[in-house]
Amino acid sequence: MLGAMSESWRAVARVGDVRRGDVIAVEVDGVQLVLGLDGERYFATQRRCVHQGGDLAEGIVSRGHVVCPQHGWRFSTESGEAADAAGFCLATYAVRVVGEQIEIDIARGGKQA
Ligand code: FES
Repeated sequence: MLGAMSESWRAVARVGDVRRGDVIAVEVDGVQLVLGLDGERYFATQRRCVHQGGDLAEGIVSRGHVVCPQHGWRFSTESGEAADAAGFCLATYAVRVVGEQIEIDIARGGKQA
């Protein structure tokens, strides 16, 4: 029938599991991601860096970017775009907070509250 919105939000963590400026590894439906807290805003991206596969779960968040620990490339926590290399971009995913629970929907791109 018409208009049935697919509900594919998955609980991945609880508020307080991620400290401000940090990222943690999470998994949604077998997909490896990172969940981070940039100021007051949660974000999610793919876990492996698009440069040479650095583990972003070992990275940090700084000034609106998640920073890869391997070579220091910075990626926007909103768009996933690399600040240091044109054309490189991480996949980003929608994140929402429901009560004390943080949820990700890998069927949706980022930039969601
Ligand atoms: S592997 Fe991430 S910056 Fe090189």
